[in-house]
Amino acid sequence: MPRRVLLIGATGMLGRPVARACVADECLKTTAFVRDIDRARRLLPGSIQLIHGNLHDEESLVRAMDGADSVYVNLNTPFSQRVNFDPDRDGTALVLRAARRAGVPHILRLSAIEVNDPAHQWWSLRRKEETDQRVRESGLDWTIFKPTWFMENLALFVQWRFISLLAAPTDPLWWIAGADFGNQVAAAMKCSAARNRQFIVQGPEGVSLGEATKRFARAHSPKLLPAPMPRLALRAAGLLFAQPRYGADLLQATFERTAGFEATETWDILGKPTMRIEDYAQSIEQTGDRPRKPLWSVS
Ligand SMILES: NC(=O)c1ccc[n+]([C@@H]2O[C@H](COP(=O)([O-])OP(=O)(O)OC[C@H]3O[C@@H](n4cnc5c(N)ncnc54)[C@H](OP(=O)(O)O)[C@@H]3O)[C@@H](O)[C@H]2O)c1
Repeated sequence: MPRRVLLIGATGMLGRPVARACVADECLKTTAFVRDIDRARRLLPGSIQLIHGNLHDEESLVRAMDGADSVYVNLNTPFSQRVNFDPDRDGTALVLRAARRAGVPHILRLSAIEVNDPAHQWWSLRRKEETDQRVRESGLDWTIFKPTWFMENLALFVQWRFISLLAAPTDPLWWIAGADFGNQVAAAMKCSAARNRQFIVQGPEGVSLGEATKRFARAHSPKLLPAPMPRLALRAAGLLFAQPRYGADLLQATFERTAGFEATETWDILGKPTMRIEDYAQSIEQTGDRPRKPLWSVS
């Protein structure tokens, strides 16, 4: 009998590869909780079951969770702390409340590798730690994923014929493809050893941000022109726009925590990622999934 899993945030950049992996797994019966059914049909595999709802409508969440064995939460963090509703923090709190009402046994959450200090100076990491804590204390079985940078970010650097080359330290990041992560999430849904623990998520090779961007550009489209983006330019743009400000703060937080390889245990329990940057670049053609996000949000 397949396990019934509900995905919240499946239409997101990192939700989509998880949805594809869950749908491809014959041991799972996958439903996505979405707020726009037509858009979800365009973005998600045809065989996924869709259920309409919104985080702000608790009854829709409880209905969607009815009979689910596991609920996976992939919600976005706002670029500014001034917005009224933070889907990752406030939305996850609503999901937990609904999950307790619906009697869901297991919740899985996408956090981040940099999250390790409740007193972190950057509001975004403080909030994520707060949310991790809320999940751990929810009374449900939980699994928290702490991934490094996803290869999907490299596709976001492409704008028209240009690819942004962000100035950053040369420390290696253990890039992970969303598809490999999706397989690990699907494995965690079926594995009792994945309950009540967190997993560092890293991919098969450590590559600096600059080198990763160049390798992605070569494999994706050799015609792309590099557009160097000095850190000062990002900071200057961040005075006006929330997104570059968030990007600059994220870069700082990333390289303050220069991690080596820490995912041995994750690979042993949830399987070994195999995709390298070139594999990810080529997979974009096969999946038709080219990540895009708005560039300049103000607030
Ligand atoms: N990028 C990285 O390398 C990285 C690494 C570690 C962790 N993370 C974390 O991963 C998380 C997810 O990122 P992402 O890029 O996948 O985000 P995203 O593309 O913005 O996706 C967010 C998802 O949340 C859904 N959502 C938002 N508000 C909702 C509401 N009121 N009701 C129902 N659904 C709602 C969105 O639905 P719609 O499609 O309807 O908008 C979408 O499916 C973020 O918190 C990020 O910090 C990212």
